[in-house]
Amino acid sequence: TRLLFVASEASPFVKTGGLADVIGSLPQALNKRNDVEVRVVLPLYQEILNKWKDKIEEWLTFSVDVGWRHHQVKVYQLLHQHTHFYFIHNDYYFSRHQIYGYEDDGERFIFFCQAVCSMLSKLEGFPVDILHAHDWQAALSIAFSKIYYPDWQLKTVYTIHNLKYQGIMQKYAFSDLFYLAPDHIGGFEWNGLLNCMKAGLFHAHKITTVSPTYAEEIKTHYHGEGLHSIINERHQDVSGILNGIDTEGYNPMTDRSLVSPFDHAGANKQANKKVLQQQLGLPVNEDTPLYVMVSRLVEQKGFHLVQRIIDEFLTEDVQFIILGSGEHEFEDYFYHAASRNPTKLVTYLGFSESLARQIYASSDFFVMPSLFEPCGLSQLIALQYKSVPIVRETGGLKDTVQAFNEHSLSGNGFSFQNYNAHDLLHVLRYALQIYHNETKWKALLHNVDKSSFDWQQSAEAYVHLYRALIHAKKGE
Ligand code: GLC
Repeated sequence: TRLLFVASEASPFVKTGGLADVIGSLPQALNKRNDVEVRVVLPLYQEILNKWKDKIEEWLTFSVDVGWRHHQVKVYQLLHQHTHFYFIHNDYYFSRHQIYGYEDDGERFIFFCQAVCSMLSKLEGFPVDILHAHDWQAALSIAFSKIYYPDWQLKTVYTIHNLKYQGIMQKYAFSDLFYLAPDHIGGFEWNGLLNCMKAGLFHAHKITTVSPTYAEEIKTHYHGEGLHSIINERHQDVSGILNGIDTEGYNPMTDRSLVSPFDHAGANKQANKKVLQQQLGLPVNEDTPLYVMVSRLVEQKGFHLVQRIIDEFLTEDVQFIILGSGEHEFEDYFYHAASRNPTKLVTYLGFSESLARQIYASSDFFVMPSLFEPCGLSQLIALQYKSVPIVRETGGLKDTVQAFNEHSLSGNGFSFQNYNAHDLLHVLRYALQIYHNETKWKALLHNVDKSSFDWQQSAEAYVHLYRALIHAKKGE
């Protein structure tokens, strides 16, 4: 079975969030099997071109129309870690400083999806059986292939990584950017606007999202981001497949970013912690429990809750580190909170991959009280680096972290249910209590040790889905 993944980011080429981690590691996991081959297509942003220009090779040229605009497309290609990547090049749309955040983002990804469809007809050595698109930026590739190329009989899968971002545009896009017969407009329109996410949900044969719990949550008004009715209409085709992580890339025994990589004798947490404390100007004490957050500073990640209780929590004998950047409201708040609590809280605004890894390895607790979380990868990385996750029971957090039970000694983390700051405070303190109880703490770390989230199981689930699709009767 031949698959083409369509997405707007993939590690190591370009990354703004968890989507890139998935597109940068799931295809490799699938390609290790011999029953599927996955190739990936991405836009060729300036950032990728700058870093990879010596490696990628020009392969194909054609043209694509976006409304009245006639555009040249160059496709580049690269074989990376046994996976074939295609890159769609067009100066006008993609030679820019950032990858997102432009007024014409909608038009940019309409172009991308049109170009992907044209490219499909030219992949001679690789006749695609299944087009698998991820998130709104890629959604229209499914809709366009179905409407403009009905003879292809292509099967399609659409994966929601985050329902909140939908790619919404004014309605003039319909006439200005692409042509649709009137009876096709309904599949793209939502509240009088063009909605790419909706078009993906409407046209795909199968819809997946990145955890079983999120797959259920998005059917509700509360988590459905306005689209729960269409998700419910399609409920028979919706499923949740948990993400994995690249356990070779995130391996604390070989991670070069760590001051003291872990060894068979155990996690060298304390050695890493001491260096980190020194580096960030915290009192150096390997026994002080260290709580951390490595996250974009946005509402989704639960910072409103942390804001409410951070000062109170810091009256305990603990240290807290926040690494990330995002909304000004949170950046300002936690910057000032750190100056009020200089010996206990460090707020590092910005991002550094190696610092992030050093923080995972040094910390005792990884705090992730998300408002919603389709899957969440950080809690999985935390588990790999033996940092105990403290999460809110939502989406993928609920599916990957089981609350520690001090009687049966089961569970690999801590959790709370309601989106309530004092429930968070309570669980942060409860975790501290367990930390100070040697027997219970040891049992908990043992369970953390046994948690593993490599891609194998998920890859199996995707293959199962692909097989069912291929074998479905024509026209289904
Ligand atoms: C988005 C979601 C996150 C998920 C990731 C990869 O970033 O917010 O929960 O893990 O996509 O699927």
